[in-house]
Amino acid sequence: MRRPFVAGNWKMHGTRAENAELIEALLLGLPGEVQVDIAVCPPFVYLWEVGRLLKDSSVALGAQSVCAEPLGAFTGEVSATMLKDVGVEYAIVGHSERRALYKEDDALVARKFVAAQSQGIVPILCVGETLEERESGQTMDVVSRQLSAVLDVAGVAAMRNAVVAYEPVWAIGTGKNATPEQAQEVHAHIRSAVAAQDATIAAGLRVLYGGSVKAGNAREIFAMPDVDGGLIGGASLKADEFLEICTAARPSG
Ligand code: 13P
Repeated sequence: MRRPFVAGNWKMHGTRAENAELIEALLLGLPGEVQVDIAVCPPFVYLWEVGRLLKDSSVALGAQSVCAEPLGAFTGEVSATMLKDVGVEYAIVGHSERRALYKEDDALVARKFVAAQSQGIVPILCVGETLEERESGQTMDVVSRQLSAVLDVAGVAAMRNAVVAYEPVWAIGTGKNATPEQAQEVHAHIRSAVAAQDATIAAGLRVLYGGSVKAGNAREIFAMPDVDGGLIGGASLKADEFLEICTAARPSG
């Protein structure tokens, strides 16, 4: 049985005061028995302070990216060792915004994945197609390519300590989520691609859906058999909304 997982990707949002308010509301609103793994991924500069606010809670700390290099002359970058040092447990790698805006290619994403794991940080590997790719029938090919790039470098065993997030680019921040059936189709494809190399690892791999998840649509998406939770952008900035999404991910529904 895969334990559901909901992660909030705050992207480039927040202030110290807003973060404190959000975390306070989240922790107050969380039920005692959560049944879901929950993480928040603030911008680098707030990781330490948000980590302090989360101390002794059931909410984990995640980063939005990680440098592929271990240390040295890489101005503006943050290493996996540094992330570990401030209490980070998860790192998003390969988010479509980084692929598109910062030209991160499959090879770099694979190196970031390995860098995170080298410090015991669980990578959340994002994959997903653009609208153009979907409309030209390339969705499965694109997702397979993005996944293989990591499997080829890290090996299938690395998927024991990783999470995959299917995030169709056309659904991110657009208010236009994939239908539960569209998500299920791609999630099943991802799981079967991993199963082709190791069925046990595939069966335990958590595959999250991301792209315009809201309190109002989370339950039906999470109900799909290969959807194990969500990677939430905009809706993770509102405590009530994020809490409702976390509740929707509970196995009991
Ligand atoms: P939205 O939930 O705002 O569409 O963003 C999804 C996302 O990119 C999470 O990483």
